Parts: sequence; structure tokens; C-alpha cells
Amino acid sequence: MTAAPDPAARAALIAAARAAMAAAYAPYSRFQVGAALLFGDGSVVTGSNVENASYGLSLCAETVAVAHASHAGHRAGLIAVAVIGGPHGVAGTVVTPCGRCRQVLHELAALGATDPLVIAVGAQETVDIRLSALLPLAFGPGTLAFPTPP
Ligand code: THU
Repeated sequence: MTAAPDPAARAALIAAARAAMAAAYAPYSRFQVGAALLFGDGSVVTGSNVENASYGLSLCAETVAVAHASHAGHRAGLIAVAVIGGPHGVAGTVVTPCGRCRQVLHELAALGATDPLVIAVGAQETVDIRLSALLPLAFGPGTLAFPTPP
């Protein structure tokens, strides 16, 4: 089982996600989301949603955070993810990662064989749930284990 962050790290991660939410580019939905990834070495990498005038091309905060982390060289040791969002950047209902983002997060987690704790933060409540519970029986890099060609 991947260790849950201690209370100080958890609070810092949520604060990082909240700060990231303010940097969202969401002129169409006006629904701003921030995500923060915590790695085993203590690194925190953030992302926020990036929308597009061609609406379907919009990127979620979690996906942007994963791309940011990969680009910065963080390919293993994902231990926790905090997500927060709401209309005009005001947190309300708990925001859990969308289906596509669950898959994107799984790819990064699988590289280090971790099962990160997802911390979905709302105004009134916070939900802690493992990524494996959000995406059971996940398809991932291990599924593509091609036999060695002759
Ligand atoms: N969004 C995220 O960034 N993360 C999620 O987990 C759910 C949705 C974004 C996408 C879009 O820019 C806006 O929230 C409204 O759907």
C-alpha cells in the first residue's frame, strides 16, 4: 500500500491545488480546477485546466499536471493527488478526476508501481480515495507486455 501523506504534506498539497485553481484558463465553462501531484521525494507538481475555443480540445487540470510532471522528469513515485475546483474558482461540490484523467493518472502511477491517494476537496467535505478504487482493473503499461520477437 502506498503511504498516505502526513498531515503537513497533505495540507501543503491541498494548498498547492487551490493555488493552481486560480491559474486556470477556463473562459468557456468558468469552472476552474487545480490539481497537485505529490511524489515520494517530496516534489509537488501542479496543473490547472486549459480550455479551448474548440471546446472538446480542453485539457483537465489533472492531465496538465501529469504532463507538467513528465516534462520535469517525474516518472515514478506518485503518492498523492489533490483536486479542487468550482465555478469562478470557488470550491463547492467535491471534484473527482474525470474518467480520462483517471487513466492518465494511472499511467504515471504505474511507472512507479504506486497506488496514489486521491484527495478530492470540496467546500464542505473532502473525499480520500485510492486511484485503484476510482479505476479498478485498469488498462496500463503492464497490459502491453508484448512477447520478445523471435
Ligand atoms: N475539469 C478538470 O479540469 N478536471 C476534472 O476532473 C473535471 C473537469 C475541467 C474541464 C473543463 O475545463 C471544466 O472543468 C468543466 O468541465
